[in-house]
Amino acid sequence: MTSSTPQWRDDRAPFSAGQFSSDGYYEEFAPTELLPGEMKSTFDEVTGTPIVVFNLDGELYALEDQCTHEEFELSSGTFDTEEGSIECVLHSARFDVRDGRALCAPAYTAVPKFPVKREHDAVWTRDDRD
Ligand code: FES
Repeated sequence: MTSSTPQWRDDRAPFSAGQFSSDGYYEEFAPTELLPGEMKSTFDEVTGTPIVVFNLDGELYALEDQCTHEEFELSSGTFDTEEGSIECVLHSARFDVRDGRALCAPAYTAVPKFPVKREHDAVWTRDDRD
């Protein structure tokens, strides 16, 4: 049987990354791979969207891994845990990791924010744009 619709894994199945939940999330990695003060790049398997997940004081936030200035990958930049921001390595635009808003020039447009959750001993994200 083939299906293009992502399916929720059987709860009795052993853990392995790369499963889909019934609400459209994709299983990215184990929570132990992202400690407070760290960020990790990944992507949505369905849409191919690059995603960067931040652990800011134990809270997880997910943004598109793409600067809105010239579309460079944000995960190459510097995560400032004091400010809660990511600075693009190319031209130094900064974005708030909690909501994606641009904090300074040369970027003026927010980076899309995505839902992220810890569940079934994994970190899950999804590109929820239509
Ligand atoms: S590409 Fe990010 S600041 Fe220019």
